[in-house]
Amino acid sequence: MFRVLLTGDTVGRAGRRVLEERLFDLRQQREIDFVVTNVENAAGGFSITARIANDLFAAGVDVMTSGNHIFDKKEALELIKDEPRLLRPINYVPTLPGSGVWTGEVNGSPVAVINVQGRVFMPPCDDPFRAIDATLAALDPKYKIILVDIHAETTAEKQAMGRYLDGRVTAVVGTHTHVMTADEQILPSGTAYITDLGMTGPHDSVIGMKTSIVLERFLTGLNARFEVSEGDPQLNGLLIEVDEETGRARRVQRIQQTM
Ligand code: FE2
Repeated sequence: MFRVLLTGDTVGRAGRRVLEERLFDLRQQREIDFVVTNVENAAGGFSITARIANDLFAAGVDVMTSGNHIFDKKEALELIKDEPRLLRPINYVPTLPGSGVWTGEVNGSPVAVINVQGRVFMPPCDDPFRAIDATLAALDPKYKIILVDIHAETTAEKQAMGRYLDGRVTAVVGTHTHVMTADEQILPSGTAYITDLGMTGPHDSVIGMKTSIVLERFLTGLNARFEVSEGDPQLNGLLIEVDEETGRARRVQRIQQTM
């Protein structure tokens, strides 16, 4: 069995801290072979820096996925050119730097990670369904373990992607809403699925931001500047056991840890 942990959006210092304190033990205790983490909110809620990426790799993250906030810091445009383990969605403007696919060998098994973004209530991007078809068609058939992070707002678009890819990839996991859903499952043809992995970050918040500031915006309509919360750091993710011969998921389990 090959064991993968995918963790939901790492938000700010609280998110980084919980990974630094928990991931090493979790990897050992659960015999996890590979960790994928969404990092688009890792640096103060927006994007990522080289220093933070190094810290997260040191904490036990193997590959980083992202989404709509990845290029909020200009530094990330440079970082992604030199760091193949940091992905941006495959269906972005093709001339942007970086890639939405990582491939490699992990403990003897070829593994691919694909990052794609949804289009419903999201910034404009190309059709994620056609984009993923093209990506899978170009992938060497030796990759049986294929992990897809769909960064998207709506449940329906994420479920549709899960069903579309059922039997073609190992896992389809949603990110972006920062709230973990309780619908983890193995779809009929063997693909692990969850609508949203949730947030690895401060849960005493409104999706990671300080409650008082978010409330001020809702109550007054004025544009107060968001600040990342620090309270109640939690790790949210999905542990998947995979048959490495077929790439099919055998077991899924939600992981929710406090500090
Ligand atoms: Fe997002």
